[in-house]
Amino acid sequence: MTKLKLGVLGSGKGSNFVAIQDSILRGELEAEIKVVISDHATAGILERAKAYGIPARALPPSQFKTKLEPEIELELVRLLKSYEVEWVILAGYMRVVKKPLLEAYPHRILNIHPSLLPAFKGLEAWKQALLAGVSEAGCTVHEVNEGVDEGEILGQMRVPVEKGDSAESLHARIQKAEHLLFTEILVKISKNNLRINS
Ligand code: GAR
Repeated sequence: MTKLKLGVLGSGKGSNFVAIQDSILRGELEAEIKVVISDHATAGILERAKAYGIPARALPPSQFKTKLEPEIELELVRLLKSYEVEWVILAGYMRVVKKPLLEAYPHRILNIHPSLLPAFKGLEAWKQALLAGVSEAGCTVHEVNEGVDEGEILGQMRVPVEKGDSAESLHARIQKAEHLLFTEILVKISKNNLRINS
């Protein structure tokens, strides 16, 4: 059993962060969240982290929407290393990860995406699923590489698309699955039951 030292990155409300932290507190996941970092100073995930007494840090503002300037990403790496983070968990982090982070944490960055990849990469995947008229949606945890939503898939969970679903109701169902799946994958990693390249 390995105690995972996690750094969580998020841009939004942080429900995946909460699910992971609660599973640690229940003793189901052998891990510690060393720091939560957001690219938005007002993101809900930072308030939630503070409520648990976990260090919460915001990155300097970026002029881009979908990536970080290399110097800000280097600052992010410095921050993660200063908190002795060994695994970087993207929990609703809405920027493409570039070289500084990828090279600092090879095979140690995991993302949750709200679709059954390779279907519906990119933004608001649940809306894409609804528009496509599929009968099944879900979520995926995968390794992060230089592609967008393209790294090796570590696990998926399916949910039905129900008659009359709105974008909100489908996303809520997918999020319930996300909270279970992310924790499940991290438990497997901590128990060395999931092979990840090193
Ligand atoms: C989640 O649904 C996650 O899958 C999605 O953002 C949401 C964050 O929710 N991520 C992406 O779309 C990444 N491409 P949360 O802040 O409540 O965890």
